[in-house]
Amino acid sequence: MATFEPVLLRNVGVEGARTLKVYESRGGYQAVRKALGMSPDEVVEIVKEANLRGRGGAGFPAGVKWSFLPKDRTHTLLCVNADESEPPTFCNRVLMESDPHQLIEGTIISAYATQSQIAYIYMRGEFHEQFHILQKAIDEAYAAGYLGKNIFNGDFSLEIYIHRGAGAYVCGEETGLIESLEGKRGWPRIKPPFPAVEGLFRRPTVVNNVETLSCVPHIIERGADWFTGIGPSHSVGPKLFCISGPVNKPGCYEAAMGITVRELIERDDMGGGMAPGKRVKAVFPGGVSMGVLSAEELDMKMDFDDPRNYSLLGLGTAAAVVIDQDTDMRIVLRNMARFYGTESCGQCTQCREGTAWMHKIATRIAAGAGRLEDLDLLLETARNMGMMPGLSICGLSDGATYPIETIVKKFRSELEEAIRSQPAGRVDRVLQVLN
Ligand SMILES: Cc1cc2nc3c(=O)[nH]c(=O)nc-3n(C[C@H](O)[C@H](O)[C@H](O)COP(=O)(O)O)c2cc1C
Ligand code: SF4
Repeated sequence: MATFEPVLLRNVGVEGARTLKVYESRGGYQAVRKALGMSPDEVVEIVKEANLRGRGGAGFPAGVKWSFLPKDRTHTLLCVNADESEPPTFCNRVLMESDPHQLIEGTIISAYATQSQIAYIYMRGEFHEQFHILQKAIDEAYAAGYLGKNIFNGDFSLEIYIHRGAGAYVCGEETGLIESLEGKRGWPRIKPPFPAVEGLFRRPTVVNNVETLSCVPHIIERGADWFTGIGPSHSVGPKLFCISGPVNKPGCYEAAMGITVRELIERDDMGGGMAPGKRVKAVFPGGVSMGVLSAEELDMKMDFDDPRNYSLLGLGTAAAVVIDQDTDMRIVLRNMARFYGTESCGQCTQCREGTAWMHKIATRIAAGAGRLEDLDLLLETARNMGMMPGLSICGLSDGATYPIETIVKKFRSELEEAIRSQPAGRVDRVLQVLN
């Protein structure tokens, strides 16, 4: 096994790593000094050459996104997406609580590259502790002259504000986030116009994920070739992977992309294998919205390409949750459907009604009142929702269909068996309760 030197998590466990003093003693804030000595366009070019693809779920190249900003723009704004609401994802949380200055440094460089003089960090409302940790680090950076007017005694000025969300999954979607930052209901916007042209307060805006921006200082410091040398082509750079469920060592780990789901579960330096008596039945490898793998599909590579070969939506947040042999897939199906039914913002008919129907159908299956035809009904509903058929404003609706579709397709015999063996007479009683 090739040894991998952690980059993003290199300061985890180091005493005092959250402080400016220790961060700087370990090489911190050198990359930003280097970047400020370049032109903003040069910084954008390096990030483009590094092919840094967004870590927030869609995998869009960050440098390319930055170059969509109009050339003659004024008052550009940078939004750092720290909403992290995708179940079961927690890598942004780890980054913010263990190494807040790394994110601040990445934010400064990215703000400079995009010529944004204000950056908003939109943080998940439940991150109480992380908010205080990050705010303290921001205060330290202001006191050192690294934020505010004429940072590092140069021409560039930058203010960073943390905005705490109120707990809606859809506010992680970039235009839902923008609406929420404007003080409105977190309803995603119809695009175009895209945020790069007309975003927050109608200004040109870039939205990037915490992990994406945390990579930027390392790219500036070590170069684009170093970054592209890690992992398979198209899926380069260090990457964080979360693993949870009945494994011996749930947690957040760093590796090159291309490791398999099996490695993530079994490697001693990662999940450490299944807990005693537990076997893998299923894995959601990229956050639940990407869909599920069966136990026979654990050789899928965690990169931007391979998940499509397993009927998944993509790599997503690269956060895996393992389901064991004792778990009833009807309950998993119902939990997924309930989540999206609750989190749909309701603007698009197909998403609002589709997630509600799927929730109802999955609930009756879980309650022991399912009908065999319900499985096809779920598939048909899923097929008629989402951005991909061109029916919705945002990707929540696609994310809602993948777990449902893949559970039904990959665990159909288990679901059919469970429906066939429901106790007689139960159907009418449960339907009464549900109606
Ligand atoms: C329903 C939904 C929820 C999302 N939640 C998040 C989130 O919590 N954090 C995040 O970075 N991106 C989230 N995204 C993706 C963002 O819309 C956007 O693509 C991302 O913030 C861009 O950053 P990146 O290019 O650095 O990945 C979500 C997308 C959807 C459709
Ligand atoms: S797809 Fe769903 S969550 Fe997204 S805007 Fe439409 S209704 Fe809202």
